[in-house]
Order: sequence, then C-alpha cells, then structure tokens
Amino acid sequence: MEKCSHHGESQECASCNLASGHTETRSHQGKSLEEEDRAIHRTLRNIRHKLLVMSGKGGVGKTSVAVALALSLARRGFKVGLMDVDIHGPNVLRMLGLKEPFDVQHAQFDLPPDLYHNLKIISIEALMRNREIAVIWRGPLKHQLIRQFLSEVQWGELDYLVIDAPPGTGDEPMSVAQTIPDAKAIIVTTPQEISLADVRKSINF
Ligand SMILES: Nc1ncnc2c1ncn2[C@@H]1O[C@H](COP(=O)(O)OP(=O)(O)O)[C@@H](O)[C@H]1O
Ligand SMILES: [Mg+2]
Repeated sequence: MEKCSHHGESQECASCNLASGHTETRSHQGKSLEEEDRAIHRTLRNIRHKLLVMSGKGGVGKTSVAVALALSLARRGFKVGLMDVDIHGPNVLRMLGLKEPFDVQHAQFDLPPDLYHNLKIISIEALMRNREIAVIWRGPLKHQLIRQFLSEVQWGELDYLVIDAPPGTGDEPMSVAQTIPDAKAIIVTTPQEISLADVRKSINF
C-alpha cells in the first residue's frame, strides 16, 4: 500500500491529493498556519450563510437534505457551495450521479446548465482515486482536510455554503464549528425515540 510521505499514513493520503495534478498541496509547500488562517478567513468573508447539516444518527436523511437544499437554492438562483465532510461515508457525489470533478480547485463538476453557474461541490470522494477505500484517519488529519477545503478551494462569493456532516458529534462537526464559528446547524432526525435522544446530544453540541 502507498505510504504518504507527509503524513506517514499507511494509505493514500487525500490531504496530499487535494490539489490534483500537484504532488504537494500549497500548505505542504510551506504555507504557514497563519497564511492558511487568512485564506480561510477570506473564503468565509465571501459566504453569507453557512449551514451545517448534522444528526445524531446515520441513515436519517442528512445527505438527502443537504443535497436537496443545495440543489433547490441553486435552482432559485442563489450561489451555493456544497461541501461533503463525511469523510467516512461521502455520499454527495453518488447521490447527484456525479463522477470526477473537472476542476477540483474551483469545485466544478459537469452539472446541468441551469445549475452550472450556481453550484460548486467538493467531496473527499472526488479526491480519492479509489472510491472503495475506507478512510481511517486520525482527528487532526480530518481537521486539516476541512481547513484545506476552505483555504484551497476557490469558492468565490456564495449566498450559501451547505455542509454535509457525518453523524454524531465527533471530529468533523467539531472542526467545522471551530473553523466556521458563525455556522448555523440544521439537525435531521427520524421520529423514533432513540433517534430523538441522539438528536438532543447534537442540539447540546
Ligand atoms: N424523507 C425520506 N423518506 C424516505 N427515505 C429517505 C428520506 N430521506 C432519505 N431517505 C433514504 O434514506 C437513506 C439514507 O439517507 P441519507 O440521506 O444517505 O442519510 P444520512 O446522510 O443521514 O446517512 C437513503 O437510502 C435515502 O434515500
Ligand atoms: Mg450522509
């Protein structure tokens, strides 16, 4: 199995594959944390509403809500970004029937013309050469990936950034909350009491 020379991961490292066609991402080429912070700040300044779609449980319809919300906002003429940070089960591309991005840096996919100008999408899935590789990462790496999604992708001006989070209150929602302090949460649940109990944890989070 390939070993990532930057992170020492015993598997293909998507952090290093983010800027496709480059062997190293800019941050690995010496972009300091402060520079990255400034890049994230610049990105966030140009985004009016940041919506984090989360839930206590998996399989309750989070990705469906995130995708439907992003599509309907884009169709209404809003400029929308859709960011898939469910690193362990990225489904956004599959749900939209999209394959490879033609431009990772600008988060552009082959989309129907009426959505083309309004919708930008980034997903870890687009960065993994093999969709079937299960991603087993430590928290700090996931945090770094989310920072790179915000610092390296050219989102431009957006009305909405919709973020599809993995279930629960783990590393990714925490990283998003730290990196995007003004994000609003949309919490998805099914009506069962078990699911509602987990959702209360998400609301407290
Ligand atoms: N409102 C709904 N009614 C019925 N099935 C749904 C609904 N929303 C989503 N699903 C189905 O439930 C499954 C899980 O949905 P998904 O959006 O992937 O959930 P999550 O992202 O929370 O894991 C999918 O097969 C999806 O098609
Ligand atoms: Mg999902």
